Amino acid sequence: MLVVEPMGNAGRFLVEAADRLGVRLYAATHQDVHDGYPDRLRAALAGVCATDLTDTPRALEDMDAFCRRHAIAGVAPCFELFTPLAALLAERLGLPGNAPGLARAARNKILMGEAFAAAGIPAPRWALAHDADEAFRAAREHALGWPLVVKPAEQGGSWGVSVVDGPDRLAEAVGAARQYTYAHPHGLELDARALLQEYIPGEEYSCDTVVADGVAYPLPVVAKDTTEGRYRIETGHTCPSGLPAPLVRKVQHTAARAALAVGVRNGIAHTEVKIPPGTQTPYVIETGARLPGDNLCEIVEAATGVSEAVAQLQAVLGLVPDTVPSRTDAASIRFLLPEHGGVLREVVIADLPGTHGEVHLGPGDVVPEPADSACRIGHVVARAETADQARGLADRAAARSRVEVG
Ligand SMILES: Nc1ncnc2c1ncn2[C@@H]1O[C@H](COP(=O)(O)OP(=O)(O)OP(=O)(O)O)[C@@H](O)[C@H]1O
Ligand SMILES: [Mg+2]
Repeated sequence: MLVVEPMGNAGRFLVEAADRLGVRLYAATHQDVHDGYPDRLRAALAGVCATDLTDTPRALEDMDAFCRRHAIAGVAPCFELFTPLAALLAERLGLPGNAPGLARAARNKILMGEAFAAAGIPAPRWALAHDADEAFRAAREHALGWPLVVKPAEQGGSWGVSVVDGPDRLAEAVGAARQYTYAHPHGLELDARALLQEYIPGEEYSCDTVVADGVAYPLPVVAKDTTEGRYRIETGHTCPSGLPAPLVRKVQHTAARAALAVGVRNGIAHTEVKIPPGTQTPYVIETGARLPGDNLCEIVEAATGVSEAVAQLQAVLGLVPDTVPSRTDAASIRFLLPEHGGVLREVVIADLPGTHGEVHLGPGDVVPEPADSACRIGHVVARAETADQARGLADRAAARSRVEVG
């Protein structure tokens, strides 16, 4: 199996899944990015196709030759910005993959908005803007109302996303959304246009969908907690979601439609939705043709026994994915976030039974302002019988953990 850029949170779950399935895992990446992989990831790979993923013709040629040399049986996209490249590679090799003509819609939120509208999927209304004046006019013409959301066309981790209360903050928000012209660490050129979206109120959930040969298999629904206010940063996730069964099915159905609308045919999609109060309608905030980050693979498997990474690998190998839950437990993750940016002086994760944690930054590291997920210092995971217990336990472990930023 060739994974197109396994760096990031999902890579470790693909490594584990490949091991369980007895599949040899190869990576396509840049030489310098590979040099920075965690030791565990580097050691788990059977080999590496070092190329330039930002140069599509060259990357396709290098990966094609590599795949033929190593008898690659499946291509698994992992890093969101290269999911369209993985679709092109699978097509070129005649392996199960996603629809190349639609795949860019899973990376670019403008094309995504068009794909959702074409498929009739409930999603925020949106408009484009290059500067504050245009944003103000577009917001009025499209009757987006206030607050509205300004975000980059291509980015992740809530980078450059702001919820704007009124016209005074528009210029700053458009500037923040348009600051990313190249993506770290590959140097991929980004579509730096800013998107304005109608603000969808309500609780937020995520739901992943594995698709095999065009058939969508829904995965468990997870409740997502974020900060309030201008910057919406994830504070945690809990599975099961606590939604009543009919609404769970509706979220799963909507997520499946979103995945199919952005061309997912053999693979996995991570979809985020919000449900406005008093409605039973999930609005799709975004969908990506990749595994989720944020240790959601761990949370979903701890709660339900379903391995999303195993399911993705099965789908891209042309097998029927294993998506039947084998447990009815619960799990919750809380992120340790700073109150402000600075230098990390100390981080101590509380040791409560039923929980475990991990630190992402160490003493002396610079902690960015809490404007996006780059400010995460660590996380705690709790397992319990019910979602309320798991959430409560994770909250207690987070509250008893100590983070000092000077
Ligand atoms: N139109 C919207 N209405 C309400 N809330 C929104 C809207 N768009 C974004 N948000 C909030 O901001 C968060 C981040 O936005 P979005 O998912 O589009 O960006 P992202 O950079 O892809 O984020 P991430 O990778 O953290 O999921 C969402 O999870 C949601 O809480
Ligand atoms: Mg998101």
